[in-house]
Amino acid sequence: MHIPLVDLERQYLAHAPELDKAIRDVLQATAFIGGPFVTRFEEEWASYCGAAHAVGTGNGTDALYLALRASGIGPGDEVLTVPNTFIATAEAIELCGAMVRFVDCEPGYHTMDPSLLEAAITPATKALLPVHLYGQPVDMPSLMAVAERYGLTVIEDCAQAHGATIDGRRVGTIGKAGCFSFYPGKNLGAYGDAGALVSDDAGLAGKAAMVRDHGRAKGKKYEHELSGFNFRLDGLQASILLAKLRHLPAWTERRRERVSLYRRLLGSVPDLTLPLERPNALHVYHLLVVEVEKRDVILEQLTAKGIGCGIHYPIPLHLQPAFQHLGYREGDFPVAEATSKHILSLPLFPELEDAEIAYVVDALTAALAGA
Ligand SMILES: Cc1ncc(COP(=O)(O)O)c(C=O)c1O
Repeated sequence: MHIPLVDLERQYLAHAPELDKAIRDVLQATAFIGGPFVTRFEEEWASYCGAAHAVGTGNGTDALYLALRASGIGPGDEVLTVPNTFIATAEAIELCGAMVRFVDCEPGYHTMDPSLLEAAITPATKALLPVHLYGQPVDMPSLMAVAERYGLTVIEDCAQAHGATIDGRRVGTIGKAGCFSFYPGKNLGAYGDAGALVSDDAGLAGKAAMVRDHGRAKGKKYEHELSGFNFRLDGLQASILLAKLRHLPAWTERRRERVSLYRRLLGSVPDLTLPLERPNALHVYHLLVVEVEKRDVILEQLTAKGIGCGIHYPIPLHLQPAFQHLGYREGDFPVAEATSKHILSLPLFPELEDAEIAYVVDALTAALAGA
């Protein structure tokens, strides 16, 4: 049996007529850059998230950069984030000219540990950039309490957490802005690169919208209020996202239900740690990440049986060659370092079948027994 980590072909085949029409509609309307599909997607995405504004962007990295820049983050400022994330989180901080500082994550939850923030805050700290990793919301109530005490801006990296909630609020609407990636394999994925930020702050959203479009003054093609970029969402991606957004609630429910089946079958398997769920949160399981002692041996055996697994992420950012200039060393973030050696992402997507989950569970159980 071959079971991929993610299967976008099955998703396409299940909704092909609708998705083909979404593409044809844009071709017929010749609305490729800006236009009605982008505007409608921004309105619907803002409404889905429960935010006043959404700004479509070329990808999630653009959204992070724009949210930070539109919040006034720049040279001389420090931004606290986590070392266990995709590199884009930290790249966006450096793109603004600000300094990346890391804070370790909470054991079992893989998200920023709010109890470590006070020790990391300096007079230069201006913002926190927590990551709702794997679809698991950060402990935002504790984090926001620290942010308010120190007057820090909070920008949420929601690239992996479309529709996740904490205390009944969707992620991305708790801090000043939330940034989403619609990379194809994400819970809501485009057919290319795409992203968006959401915010209740009209000033932030307006500035981000301007910077993403060459600093254009609203409605003026060749008048530029500031020097910006081309970080736009395009019409084709917006139309595809609009079609797929209708299915997101059902896909999220199905992801959670698939994880419940994994949990039932894996519950009594020794030497395996399943992810924790916060009681006040809805985890949307972009990834199902388990922890095992001899991860590399297990991974090899699952791969040999045709099972697509992943490691998100094998090297914490403070140990990446790209961030050596920050001056961190091994041992600085023990939780992120230890978990990076044990984490294993198992196949998970809404169309995953019971028999496939059973096959993964059998293979994993056998690998653990022999490891
Ligand atoms: C946590 C996180 N942040 C940021 C990004 C960047 O998004 P994009 O690839 O759309 O630029 C990703 C995408 O993989 C991500 O997983």
